Amino acid sequence: MTTPRRKVIIDCDTGVDDALALVLCLKNLEVVGITTVGGNVGLASTQRNTRYVTEVTGYTHVPVFAGYDRPMLEPLRDASYVHGAGGLGPIEVPEPKKPLESRHGVDYLIETYMAHDDITLITLGPLTNVAHALLREPRLAGRIPEILCMGGSATFGNATPAAEFNIYTDPEAAKIVFESGIPIRMVGLNLTREQRVTPALMAAAEAIDNDVARMVARLCGHVLDRSGGTGSFCDACAVMWLVEPAVITKSLKLHVTVETRGEFTRGMTVCDTRPYAGAAPGVDIDRQWQSEPSLPGKAPNVEVAMDLDQEKFNEVLLDTLRRYSET
Ligand code: RIB
Ligand code: CA
Repeated sequence: MTTPRRKVIIDCDTGVDDALALVLCLKNLEVVGITTVGGNVGLASTQRNTRYVTEVTGYTHVPVFAGYDRPMLEPLRDASYVHGAGGLGPIEVPEPKKPLESRHGVDYLIETYMAHDDITLITLGPLTNVAHALLREPRLAGRIPEILCMGGSATFGNATPAAEFNIYTDPEAAKIVFESGIPIRMVGLNLTREQRVTPALMAAAEAIDNDVARMVARLCGHVLDRSGGTGSFCDACAVMWLVEPAVITKSLKLHVTVETRGEFTRGMTVCDTRPYAGAAPGVDIDRQWQSEPSLPGKAPNVEVAMDLDQEKFNEVLLDTLRRYSET
């Protein structure tokens, strides 16, 4: 008997790496619905790109909703300089035939989680929609079983030296979510930097004869062209924790909070690794060194991914792409 697929809702700002994450989730998990948010590019593009990916993958039955187009306090500072003007790099996205749902994405989140408490929430963009849902319906904090979040970092940022883009775009929203009490698994830049998009990965995708693999190969080309071999599919790293848990080889439970006021650190995920300080200065932080479960008032609230198996990542990705050839 096959194991039941994990039910998930995905909240995303479909750009290049969100698209790859959707490809992985649609084939390997039970995607109940997808809400979209302004982030990498504006909401008009992120919702269109998301509908486009459901068409390319053949999962047009999965409903796509539009949420908020801008953060709670500040105007949207998008990342079109990374993902291209339309959000999917070189891909000219046609208007999908699949319609956008009429309900607002936050209404969908509230209604769905008030009726179900067995659906993991995957967040791949700014946390604006999720924060609004929690503010409007506080009971969601006791009904969302888990959040798997691509965001933040246990080390350096990308939007600023201290802050990662998803958190930096809407720090107030992130603080609300990280302090909600919902169990969170966080995949930050400290982890995603271990995944590299390589010419070999692009060539392997190109060798698979289906439209999904061809789309992914083009996305690989965009990342390679833009980053010269140092780019990652951040969102794909995050969803791998559910698709194939063996890809994430180390994690630590840490106290994490979001800086909202720092002049140079606004949007930083402040990860408290002090309980794991090594016995000697040169020793990497690790569970083995846990001196005490937590420091006073700093109980761990987030499981933070720390290491990734790159070979396993590529293996799972290419296997998924091959299975898109199956009818
Ligand atoms: O910092 C990387 C994250 O910000 C990814 O989710 C990317 O898609 C952007 O949303
Ligand atoms: Ca994203």
